[in-house]
Amino acid sequence: MACSKLQEIDQDVVRPDKTGVDLLHDPALNKGTAFTMEERRNLGLLGLLPPRIFSPEEQVLRTLTNVRKKATDLEKYIAMIALLDRNETLFYRIVIDNIEEMMPIIYTPVVGQACKQYGHIYRRSRGLYISRSDKGRIQQVLRNWPNKDVRVIVVTDGERILGLGDLGVSGMGIPVGKLSLYTACAGIDPSQTLPITLDVGTNNEAFLKDPLYMGTQERRLKGAEYDALVDEFVCAVQDVFPKALIQFEDFANHNAFRLLEKYRNNVCTFNDDIQGTASVVLAGLFSSTRLTKTPLRDMKILFCGAGEAAIGIGDLTVTAMMAEGLSQAEARKRCWFMDSKALVESSRQDLQEHKKPYAHQHQPIGDLLSAVKVLKPTAIIGVSGVPSQFTKEIVEEMARNNKRPLVFALSNPTANAECTAKDAYTWSGGRAIFASGSPFDPVTLDGKRYVSGQGNNAYIFPGVGLGVVACGARRVTDEMFSEAAKALAEMVTDEDLATGCLFPPLTKIRDASVRIAVKVAEVAYARGFASEPRPKDMAAHMRAAQYQPVYKKYI
Ligand code: NAI
Repeated sequence: MACSKLQEIDQDVVRPDKTGVDLLHDPALNKGTAFTMEERRNLGLLGLLPPRIFSPEEQVLRTLTNVRKKATDLEKYIAMIALLDRNETLFYRIVIDNIEEMMPIIYTPVVGQACKQYGHIYRRSRGLYISRSDKGRIQQVLRNWPNKDVRVIVVTDGERILGLGDLGVSGMGIPVGKLSLYTACAGIDPSQTLPITLDVGTNNEAFLKDPLYMGTQERRLKGAEYDALVDEFVCAVQDVFPKALIQFEDFANHNAFRLLEKYRNNVCTFNDDIQGTASVVLAGLFSSTRLTKTPLRDMKILFCGAGEAAIGIGDLTVTAMMAEGLSQAEARKRCWFMDSKALVESSRQDLQEHKKPYAHQHQPIGDLLSAVKVLKPTAIIGVSGVPSQFTKEIVEEMARNNKRPLVFALSNPTANAECTAKDAYTWSGGRAIFASGSPFDPVTLDGKRYVSGQGNNAYIFPGVGLGVVACGARRVTDEMFSEAAKALAEMVTDEDLATGCLFPPLTKIRDASVRIAVKVAEVAYARGFASEPRPKDMAAHMRAAQYQPVYKKYI
């Protein structure tokens, strides 16, 4: 039972609807050793806890000390999720106050390792699973969820988890991780979030044979049957949680683009891999203009990869270039794509629909180095999921052609990055403006310290979610994502840029989320998508509604 369901006595004093062991076992209500003597007496807790009462600060110290002692990052992840299962308030206190340390543990890159081994490290169920056998009763499954005021759902079918491919239901770590960031970064109440995995089978050969795999050990559902299941899910959400935003996450690109097109104009939904990625990368491009003095409209971008992330970034960049005066055709001509086969160009007969707008007339080019030599881009953006694609020759060629070449190695997790921060700075003589998908440590080269930025979607989606929830938006539009990109870029200081970083520090992420949320809500009000009355001071209204990881006083 969530705090929001408790009978409010005054602002911070509440009467929990549980006592004794049940109270200790409810992570939303539990305070562990921080229950006061009065609470222990009143709520049937005497004898159930060690006698000494600890302050929240002491609890933080004990937990952080223990987590930091763990030998591996995966063990740290397991310890943090175990904490979330025991004491939600303490978990969020620690994550919010130590966001730079904790985000890579509870989300990328470590969540990737956790997903790969989900069935093996499993402790306790979290989130909701909807299986193909639930067809015809998905509403009933949704109604089993204990919290009724769900506002943000993150759903995956596990087919393309990070850059790791088909992990089936083991992908549940992703919705769980993303929603914990909605709370930590934007202050969405955890009781209003719901992680969901659609168990539509898996084509992962290892998982099909793994005795500990936790999903249906059948091949993936396809075609009309798959579409019908997703459709029933989306309709059931409208009935059971009518105010919920549905974020599609880590679907393979053959479904992601289709589903986005199918639902974006009639349901409150977005796809973070396409639109969220696009927004954070666009923010990086906006910030880079202050270093290169090259406006967005004059950039030429070569993408390595032509999937969800790449096309999403391309589409939003085109919209932003059009806002700077280019026609759509001119803007598209500034975006070029390499896929797994070759340059995307008009003579190719094998192109999927989402690539066709970028199939410009050009001679075929088979490899990235040749493409960099011929096209002379100002930016290369790696989003293929294939590691080490930005070789020394490629970065050197970029540095030959540009005073400040943009090198974005966005593939996740860290092992899949196109090159490291150190490589980019070394090979370009310190001139590259580098950003990555997973974090890299600062690099010192010839006495200068470089702090590369992480183009982390977590800068964007929590703020978008907060904006949508606050104004009751009925749709999520591309305009919201480009406004979000602008708001994020505006937060980057000259000091951030001087070290080479295109994004504000993660420590400012709660502030960034509110600024983004305000912009998102403004778009919703301007376009008639908002359903809540407009508050006088939107930012203050949002800040006041944010979840705070502070124990309430129980009577
Ligand atoms: P996707 O599966 O939709 O697309 C992958 C694309 O890469 C496909 O177009 C494929 O043809 C192409 N590709 C494969 N091998 C290639 C090669 N050798 N050379 C050139 N292209 C090749 O995957 P999605 O969603 O676009 O993600 C790709 C990568 O981007 C993943 O590693 C993911 O983790 C990362 N990503 C990073 C984000 C960030 O930093 N904020 C956000 C979203 C994704």
